[in-house]
Amino acid sequence: MTREPLDASANIDRVLVTGGDGLIGRAVVDHLAARGLDVTVLDIPGTAAPARAAARHITGSVTDPDTVRQAVTGQDAVVHLAGLAGLDRGSAEEIYAGNALGAFLVMEAAGRAGVAKVVYASSINAFGLPLNPDPVLPTHYPWDEDEPAVIADAYSLSKQANEHAAAAISRNYGMELTGIRFPLVRDIYEHDGTVFAQHIRRAMNEDPRRQACEGWTYLDTRDAAASVEAALSRSTPPAPGILVAAPQTYLRQSTEEALARYAPAVPRDSVPGRDIPVSLHRASDLLDFKAEHTLEQISEALLVDLKDINP
Ligand SMILES: NC(=O)c1ccc[n+]([C@@H]2O[C@H](COP(=O)([O-])OP(=O)(O)OC[C@H]3O[C@@H](n4cnc5c(N)ncnc54)[C@H](O)[C@@H]3O)[C@@H](O)[C@H]2O)c1
Repeated sequence: MTREPLDASANIDRVLVTGGDGLIGRAVVDHLAARGLDVTVLDIPGTAAPARAAARHITGSVTDPDTVRQAVTGQDAVVHLAGLAGLDRGSAEEIYAGNALGAFLVMEAAGRAGVAKVVYASSINAFGLPLNPDPVLPTHYPWDEDEPAVIADAYSLSKQANEHAAAAISRNYGMELTGIRFPLVRDIYEHDGTVFAQHIRRAMNEDPRRQACEGWTYLDTRDAAASVEAALSRSTPPAPGILVAAPQTYLRQSTEEALARYAPAVPRDSVPGRDIPVSLHRASDLLDFKAEHTLEQISEALLVDLKDINP
């Protein structure tokens, strides 16, 4: 990895990464440490693979105000990733309480401590459609961050709450915050891409409507880390969170073919080739971010063939 410093105008040396021992967290810690930043991780006890590149670890929960207050003290920036990353990670109560309260406490403490910048993990689920039990679809393709929310589950609601908290804290403290609406994030290179390919094949078979709502998007962990770096050094509105994704879908067929099959009644502008039917204009305009790691770089054979998917 190159060791170029973070954009000097960002004036950031010390960064707290909450959830830094998690999937995205470890990639973010590696990335920021390689940029020469002094990285502290705040995570709960007993994580399986602690981020080794961190200068120090604080063990505790983002839902504990004292722990959070101490952890943000003296930091120039905070990357808030800690939380329960899906509906399968706990009860509805645990997910909403952990994610909504945790984000609020981290943002509030950062505002009080005079931290310059908070980057927080929102989600492609912040608009609620993918996890909605009803057969809902976006109003239009390509859709973007302004697509109206139709939320029915605790995880999506918690991510929407994070974005509202960011807007409120920004008003109250004048602090810079940027949310990132991550899509499906995985280490796409694991076992030459086969682990990821199996995951998306299963996801397409289990719930193709959900994948259609998400526009068949994904992002490698390295690109997730690069998007966090881009957000740390740029000024954006605190909400909505900014969608980031690889530029093309994980499908073998064209996006037009996929839309005709899974969302034929949804009005759409034409989408070229295998481009995702989700607009990344904010990622491009506000973050100058473009994902670099794609399945095609590993093997075209990893792309999901719609012929293999149950109708
Ligand atoms: N991975 C994805 O596909 C994806 C997609 C969209 C959004 N996100 C969001 O990105 C963030 C990171 O996701 P991830 O995939 O790395 O998840 P992960 O489960 O791998 O990592 C989450 C980390 O947070 C820690 N954590 C959980 N509760 C905590 C608490 N109360 N206090 C302190 N630490 C706590 C966990 O120990 C873990 O290390 C989450 O907010 C998630 O909702 C992830």
